[in-house]
Amino acid sequence: MAESFTYTGAQARESTPPAPPGPAEVEWPSATRYARHLDAYYEAITDAYDDWSSGIHRRLAARLVEVAGPLPGERLLDVGCGTGLVCLLASERVGSSGEVIGVDIARRLLGVAARRAPARVRFLHVPAEALVFSDLTFDVVTMGDALPYLSDPSRALREAHRVLRRGARIAVSVLDRALTTPAEDVFRALLADLERRSPVMVPRPPGDRARFGEPEVLARLLRAAGFAGVVTTLMVTGGRARGASDWVDLMMGAGPSSHALLSVLGPDIRRRFEAELTERMLALGPDEAFRYHHPFTFAAGIRE
Ligand SMILES: C[S@@+](CC[C@H](N)C(=O)[O-])C[C@H]1O[C@@H](n2cnc3c(N)ncnc32)[C@H](O)[C@@H]1O
Repeated sequence: MAESFTYTGAQARESTPPAPPGPAEVEWPSATRYARHLDAYYEAITDAYDDWSSGIHRRLAARLVEVAGPLPGERLLDVGCGTGLVCLLASERVGSSGEVIGVDIARRLLGVAARRAPARVRFLHVPAEALVFSDLTFDVVTMGDALPYLSDPSRALREAHRVLRRGARIAVSVLDRALTTPAEDVFRALLADLERRSPVMVPRPPGDRARFGEPEVLARLLRAAGFAGVVTTLMVTGGRARGASDWVDLMMGAGPSSHALLSVLGPDIRRRFEAELTERMLALGPDEAFRYHHPFTFAAGIRE
């Protein structure tokens, strides 16, 4: 019997050419299909977000705040703030004389952030590419693990540059895909194969972002947006899944594309997928099977 696909964030493949967009659809970028896909993904994983993979998001947020170094009295903007992990830590640093604002397009994440942060931290439903702030407003902009997910990363960096004062700082973290493990390569190849056979269409943002986390690529992106003195550092953590089922559960929280494909697998298809994954992993040998990395590049720069 056919297995049903129920993922609300995924669209059916279009069999007829799409009609020209109506006025609501040309509103940019929150009305795009990709933005809706992201919103649905974060809606699904919000509750597990902070503790996913032994709390890697908490550790990344703490490191980003270290890199940004907000000082008492400063005004900080966190772009793609998610559940507010960076904002919470930053608000302790800037204190009551400072100000912290988080912006994001995922309403459920913003809700979590607003509920647990002190009232002086504000959260706004605003896209990174069209900030609603005046020029030269902030002392610090942070962007944690958000750049490759944005509809227009270069435009978002230019917006960050616009709202920062001259001499102010930006701190960004991005996953460095070049440092992932052989087990992740095996999984990605299987996932690509699954996508080719799946009726689910995964919306993707324009352009190739696969190399954004490589230090020289990230530094170039920041320099192109007008930042100087760019310094990069690396943080690598990782672990090993106990087997294929744990691996699939874990990777469902690793990003919108893998979630869209894996969350709709019916039991039979999932069993077959896990059997193939196990076979390919075991072929890697006991050291490499089911091993994953979370390699993140941190970049800091000064607004000229
Ligand atoms: C991997 S999460 C990182 C969240 C948070 N910065 C952290 O460190 O935990 C990426 C975030 O970027 C947000 N995002 C994606 N596209 C966006 C856009 N165009 N404008 C603002 N936020 C966006 C997502 O909704 C999500 O909260």
